[in-house]
Amino acid sequence: MSVYTIVFSPTGGTKKVGDCLSQVLGPEIQEIDLTSPAAEFSSFLLGSEDICVVSVPSFGGRVPAPAAARLAELKANGAKAILVVVYGNRAYEDTLLELKDTLIQAGFHCVAAVAAVAEHSIMRQFASGRPNQEDLEELGQFAYQIKAAIETEAVPDSVHVPGNTPYREYNGVPLKPKAGKNCTGCGLCAEKCPAGAIPSDNPSQTDAKACISCMRCVSICPAQARTLNRLLLAGASQKLKKVCSEPKKNELFLS
Ligand SMILES: Cc1cc2nc3c(=O)[nH]c(=O)nc-3n(C[C@H](O)[C@H](O)[C@H](O)COP(=O)(O)O)c2cc1C
Repeated sequence: MSVYTIVFSPTGGTKKVGDCLSQVLGPEIQEIDLTSPAAEFSSFLLGSEDICVVSVPSFGGRVPAPAAARLAELKANGAKAILVVVYGNRAYEDTLLELKDTLIQAGFHCVAAVAAVAEHSIMRQFASGRPNQEDLEELGQFAYQIKAAIETEAVPDSVHVPGNTPYREYNGVPLKPKAGKNCTGCGLCAEKCPAGAIPSDNPSQTDAKACISCMRCVSICPAQARTLNRLLLAGASQKLKKVCSEPKKNELFLS
């Protein structure tokens, strides 16, 4: 039996949650990084004894498209999946359901699910600092409950999660990071962009159609050269202020 953490985490919030849960499930954890655009996901061989913590962020209430496409390449062969959706304190709508449907298609047995809050990667004032110590302790408790259910074979055939079909329509957000005059052309953003939206021969450019606004380039740029349009960001923040301000709770689904 092996424990895997399978994660799409452009700016690290989703990974923090996924790592916190998977640490409880196994002393040795293998990582499959769905954020990496270069990996061969069809080459991973999973089996029914394996336990996989599968973590994605919610983008517009949905699974980010590159994460869904990469998950669909995996061959799970009945591996147990713990579904994890991480969101920026607004809402996650159909993300857990879409994740579950995608994993069933790939041959996983979906045994448990978690929805957790992390700092909003575009508007960092929302859920700032989360997951905090209290969240991590609670997530650790969730993991112990999941572990006990797996060990006693008390897991459901298919965990029930909230969400509706057809899934919420999501066509991206108009906030696309642009490189400013500090850009040194080092190419790190092009190498790490999970959507292949930054040309390696001209990393100061962004293909706005391919960009998923995941903020990875903004968060990793060593020169802090990539930013969003301030006016658009201020407008979006104002719009979401009410719905994002009240702290949301982490949730465990185990039936
Ligand atoms: C393009 C985009 C769309 C997002 N949509 C939502 C959303 O619909 N609801 C929400 O609560 N948070 C939303 N968020 C916030 C992320 O779900 C949250 O910050 C998550 O922790 C990001 O994961 P990461 O840190 O692993 O990149 C969005 C973030 C981005 C970049």
